[in-house]
Parts: sequence; C-alpha cells; structure tokens
Amino acid sequence: MHIAVVGSGYVGLVAGACFADLGHQVILVDNDQVKLAALKAGDVPIHEKFLPELLKRHRERNLTFSDNLNQAVRASKAIFIAVGTPPTEQGEADLSYVESVARSVSGAINGYKVVVEKSTVPVYTSDWVRKIILRNAAAPDSFDVASNPEFLREGTAVTDFLYPDRIVVGADSERCATVLREIYAPMTDGSYYQRKDAIPAPDRAQIPPPLIVTSAKSAELIKHASNAFLAMKISFINAVASICESVGANVQQVCQGIGTDSRIGPRFLNPGIGYGGSCFPKDLMAFRAVARECGYEFRLLDEVMRINEDQRQRFLRKVRTALWTLRGKRLGVLGLAFKGGTDDIRESPAILLVQSLLQEGCQIAAYDPAATARAREVLGPSTEFVSDPYEAARDSDALLILTEWEEFAALDLDRIFKQLKYPIVIDGRNLYDPEAMAARGFTYYSVGRPAGTPAVPAAASTPPARKLKKS
Ligand code: UDX
Ligand code: UDX
Repeated sequence: MHIAVVGSGYVGLVAGACFADLGHQVILVDNDQVKLAALKAGDVPIHEKFLPELLKRHRERNLTFSDNLNQAVRASKAIFIAVGTPPTEQGEADLSYVESVARSVSGAINGYKVVVEKSTVPVYTSDWVRKIILRNAAAPDSFDVASNPEFLREGTAVTDFLYPDRIVVGADSERCATVLREIYAPMTDGSYYQRKDAIPAPDRAQIPPPLIVTSAKSAELIKHASNAFLAMKISFINAVASICESVGANVQQVCQGIGTDSRIGPRFLNPGIGYGGSCFPKDLMAFRAVARECGYEFRLLDEVMRINEDQRQRFLRKVRTALWTLRGKRLGVLGLAFKGGTDDIRESPAILLVQSLLQEGCQIAAYDPAATARAREVLGPSTEFVSDPYEAARDSDALLILTEWEEFAALDLDRIFKQLKYPIVIDGRNLYDPEAMAARGFTYYSVGRPAGTPAVPAAASTPPARKLKKS
C-alpha cells in the first residue's frame, strides 16, 4: 500500500521504516530541511536498534523522504500523522501541528483516504481532525479518520513495532478498519515472521499479534490510559521502595513477591530515580487535562507525578547522606539518557539530577554511551564529559549510576574501586547487589534496599588508608 507518514521524529521514522519492511511503499514527510537532507544522505538521526539496517534496506527504494505533504497525500491511501504534540504551559497537548497537517491533507484529497493519528493525542482529536478536513472543503465520504496509537519504547522501538503485544485500530467505519487491517496484514497473518530477513523476534514475542478494533475515541483513550497505568506502576513501586528504606526491607524481594502474581506482573516494577522521557511526563499531564475538561478530577495522576518528583529529591538526599556536604565534591556520573539504550535526554531524570548537583556546587564528570552530544547542548561547559565509566570514576568522591545501561551493570569493579577517590557508589537503578558491593569494599547506596557497608568501613567519613596515603 502507498503510505505517507508525516513527521519523521522518533515515532514517524520508526513507523515509516517498519511499514517499508512490511512491504509498503512509504513517503516520510517532514518540514525540517536539515533533518530531511540528513535522512536522504544516509544519516540515522536517532540511536535505535535495527533502525540503521531498515533505513539502509529501504532508503530510496520503498522508503523516500519529502517536504511536499500535498504530493505525498495525493500518492497515498493512508496518511499517518506523527508530528509532535508537546505540552502547553497548562499541561495540555499542543495540537497545532496536528491541526496544520489536517488542513494541508484536506486540500490534497484526490480519492478515498484514511487519515491516521499516530501521535499521542487526547480523546476527541479524531473528531477535530475530521471537522478541520471537512471545513477545508473535503467531501465527507472522501476520507475517514482513525486512531492507531503506538506503544513503542525508545531503544527497542523497531522490535516493539514489529512484535507488539497488540495492534490497536480505532476506526469508526468498516471501510476504514479494512485499510488498517490490510496495512498490518503481514504481521497479523504471520507472513512477515516467516521471512528470512525479518527483524529477529525479542523474548516474549506474541506471534502473530492480535489486532483490536475499537472506536476512534476508545483507541485515543487506550493510549493515554496505558501510559498513565505504566507510570502509576513505577510510582507505586517507588513509593513502596521508600517504605522499604524506612523499615530496612528489600524492595527487590518485595517486587519478586508481588510481581509473580500474574494479575500484577513483574514488568515496569523497577524502582529508580523516577520515570522520564518524551512520553510519560507529557502524557500524564495531558491525560489529567483531558479528564478535567470532561469534568473528572483525576487526582490519582497528580499523586503519580508527585511521587515521581519526590523520587529525585530522595536520591539527592542519599547523595548528601553519603558525602555530607556537596560543594566542591567531584562526582562521577554514569548515564544521562532518560533510560538505557537511547540517546534521548528529554525529561531525563539523570539530567535533572546533574543540574541540581551542579547548582549545589558539585563538579561532574559524566559518561553516557550515546547521549553525550545531546546532553552537552543542555548542560554546557559546566559538566566534564568523559569517554568511559572509569574516567568518570577517576578521583571522584563518589560514583552515581543514573541510567540503566547494560554496560553499567557489567563494570570492572576492581578498576572502578582503584579509580575512585573514595569507594562510594550511589546507584539510582539498582544494578548491583548491596552485599556483593560491600564485600568488594564499596559503600553502596541504592533504591529501596539496605545500604551495603564494607566490614572495614571505607565510607565517606572514614576514607581507607590506601586512599589517604595517596592524597
Ligand atoms: C511522537 C508523537 O508525536 C508524540 O505524540 C508521542 O507521544 C511521542 O512521539 P516524536 O516522534 O518523539 O513524537 O516527535 P519529534 O521527534 O518531535 O518528531 C516530530 C517530527 O515532526 C519532527 O521531525 C518535525 O520536524 C516534524 N514536523 C513537525 C513536521 O514535519 N511538520 C509539522 O508541522 C510539525
Ligand atoms: C513509553 C511507553 O513504555 C511506550 O509504550 C510508549 O509508546 C512511549 O512511552 P519510553 O518513554 O520509550 O516508552 O520508555 P519506557 O521504557 O516506558 O521508560 C520510561 C521511563 O520509566 C524511563 O525513564 C525508565 O527509566 C523508567 N522506568 C521504566 C522505571 O523507572 N522503572 C521501570 O520499571 C520501567
């Protein structure tokens, strides 16, 4: 099928590349000329597993790039809108980009089209998109508006797209649902997965994935409700972690105990420094705003957000507990991205923590496997960016783990120990075992678990003899 995807950001680019891999003819439209030139030249603007392979496989064959929305609409049967929906100051989703795309689509309709919302949008957006297209003189039976939310996680977006738990199609007419069913047919009939060159399946893949057809409004709500529920799960376990800290329990054991209840499930139950990213913070605010507009005060969401912010403050208190005063302390920081496996720093709790520590007068030596360039733009020269974890640790008063990158869970701990000025590790992602860390001589703080303290104390207040000699 001929498909246009408008907006080649994280979502649009991944969706476009995956539709091409399913065998469709895709035009990716963007109004950012620099981005377009880079994409045409073969650059991969985001760090996303399997995306370079897919772009290489399909670029200038069944995946082309264009700034001409009009032409792309004329050439396509389905038009996916994947432009940004950033939050306004009031926390609502700013839908002006969506509206402007809808206006342009209207003028280019030359036969039956399905206009699909792929961006996360509040309920009723499909109604509005329809009204805008009609207002701009398109015939009522020349198009339908559908909602087809994405559930992609950054870092695993390609496999999340091709091996989803479910595909949600919000369509208010059978004609429209049929077009979307056809687009996803290579997945739902299993033929994609039999191909030798298919992107490899992740663990737990459900093959073939179910396709759920709902009304457009229900699909819009499914997206907001899913993200809100996942964020709530994270805040819930972060709150439980705080209680664990107060009573000396171990949140990991608690997680295992509750996560094995199949009604709860173990995923998205990892405590840490709070959720970040381009979706959860924005979508929770937008969902709360939508609910308020509909006359419902969704106070539960306020609490989810409050716990999330509190989680960062609690981490800062841990740094103070470990080091007493902060001014002039040198801290090694591992991880700046909002989570492992991505170079995205939007709403990254790691960046927010580094900014707070800089304000307190700390010196920061930071390392991230992928997000350094983006972080440099935000943090500027106040932060020293280093090229590996051991350099971050070198002569630092403590090492902070802020992002759950796999490589941070496999550090050469003896080397880290030797590099640090004091062997103190404050782990915001629970990557190590407190007792094992203590046995290696570290004073180790994590989230929701008792601190690990070496038998012969090497804590901040009592630097080890070896280190004293050195200084
Ligand atoms: C998307 C969704 O839009 C958002 O609702 C969802 O919650 C997360 O993912 P994302 O793909 O991350 O956002 O957005 P971004 O990386 O900002 O990309 C949007 C793209 O649309 C940019 O490349 C921008 O240049 C382009 N754009 C924007 C247009 O082509 N036309 C416009 O009018 C506006
Ligand atoms: C999220 C949703 O998972 C995805 O379905 C939606 O389409 C977009 O938003 P993403 O923002 O890419 O995806 O990342 P996700 O893996 O959900 O993590 C979000 C944040 O929560 C990260 O900061 C992560 O570190 C944090 N997190 C996640 C936890 O703190 N604990 C967990 O158990 C899981």
